[in-house]
Amino acid sequence: MTYLLGLDISTTGAKALIIADDGSVIASCTTPQPISTPQPLWSEQNPSNWWDGIVASIRQALADAHLKGEDIACIGLTGQMHGLVLLDAAGGVLRPSILWNDQRTQKQCDEITTRVGFERLIELTGNRALTGFTAPKILWVRQHEPDVYARAAHMLLPKDYIRFQLTGEYAMDMSEASGTSLLDVANRRWSSEVIQALDIPESWMPALCEGPEVTGVISGRAAELTGLKVGTPVVGGGGDQAAGAVGVGAVEPGIISLVVGTSGVVFAPLAQYAYEPDGRLHAFCHAVPGMWHFMGVMLSAAGSLQWFRDALAPGESFDALLAPAADVPPGSDGLLFLPYLTGERTPHPDPLARGAFVGLTVRHTRAHLARAVLEGVAFGLNDGFQLMAAAGLPSDRMQVRVSGGGAKSPLWRQILADVIGAPLVSTNSTEGAAYGAALLAAVGAGVYPNVPAACQQTIRTSDATEPSPAAAEYAHSYALYQALYPALKETFTRI
Ligand code: XUL
Repeated sequence: MTYLLGLDISTTGAKALIIADDGSVIASCTTPQPISTPQPLWSEQNPSNWWDGIVASIRQALADAHLKGEDIACIGLTGQMHGLVLLDAAGGVLRPSILWNDQRTQKQCDEITTRVGFERLIELTGNRALTGFTAPKILWVRQHEPDVYARAAHMLLPKDYIRFQLTGEYAMDMSEASGTSLLDVANRRWSSEVIQALDIPESWMPALCEGPEVTGVISGRAAELTGLKVGTPVVGGGGDQAAGAVGVGAVEPGIISLVVGTSGVVFAPLAQYAYEPDGRLHAFCHAVPGMWHFMGVMLSAAGSLQWFRDALAPGESFDALLAPAADVPPGSDGLLFLPYLTGERTPHPDPLARGAFVGLTVRHTRAHLARAVLEGVAFGLNDGFQLMAAAGLPSDRMQVRVSGGGAKSPLWRQILADVIGAPLVSTNSTEGAAYGAALLAAVGAGVYPNVPAACQQTIRTSDATEPSPAAAEYAHSYALYQALYPALKETFTRI
């Protein structure tokens, strides 16, 4: 039997997952990761913590699986996207990594948009410059920490720093590079035009590779620390969203990945590069060679329900909280919820957007409020689907593969299927992005000829939730919902 290792540097933990070549999970181990917020809006982690954490997880996963380093045929990487890691010429870390959820860079985003031009930036990079993305973080360091900037020689992202530690190579896959604002996404190469406009040294950019492509092998030093074998190949891998999509088989047009986690993500594979001219949807390279994807990101999806429970029913189980909501009619008797509790990305890229209940009357109960939260999140996710349909994504034959904690609630699944108007299915893998990274490693090892073949052999769907007759009843509420953000935007800004 051949074994593959998927490594995931998420914001909360460094995870090592071992799977067998038939896709079965053999061992999974996660080392929690601290996060630091030294100033308001800042979010940082120390790359050395990622490395120590992943070394511990690899050792533990090998021990739990009763495997030796030589049993692992190939390694795939994934992780939180966009985080800036700056290294000096010797590969030393120059400052803590500035993470995807750091919000300090609005000024630098405006500067990027001015230097490149709004339309040209979106045409080339597929996206607006967003505070979460990498390029504005580089500009911030140049302006605020010129000494650090002067010593920098390499720019990496979190999982690529782990690649560097494992193999000594500076490399980045296309899906991750898409989230830097520096990639020519259509042509899958660094955009000299953007890099020059921002006056960043092109020599800092790592080599680009595809998700299943081998980028290097385990070094002697890494082998000693991790227990892996010297010479084991490491593939490009993918950002957490692209690798997560591989992990549920969203690797061909029409198969959509819908993640209802703390944040909510709609991920639609594309056979050709396309972008939404207003940049409200992300357009990125997929971790599948020759494919791209649209992505809508809602910042508080299951996070909205978590907030609601913690604020209004602390200690109560989600099942108990949601049971009475099933008896409230679709549309929650005129009550609407806006889920912008931590600002929003799609469809309103607005860090100042806020949450709201609108339409409250004395007739509304806690069950109405709970149902309105589920419906508001479904409406917000449907905004992503609507933007994709408007950008030309065919919606007639789509299958939505749903994952994340929110997908466990049958009521929420039904509301989502009704609002989106498509069947929802689950998949067998619950290991998320690490599973996709391990499948990319399986392709790199030659176990499967390509990523779609790897997914076909390993991923099974179940638990279909079809749209019900209630679907038609949401049209009115959704129209009301869509009118709320434009009506409240100015108030949010003033708040
Ligand atoms: C994707 C994104 C998140 C982070 C953290 O654009 O910001 O998925 O990668 O999970």
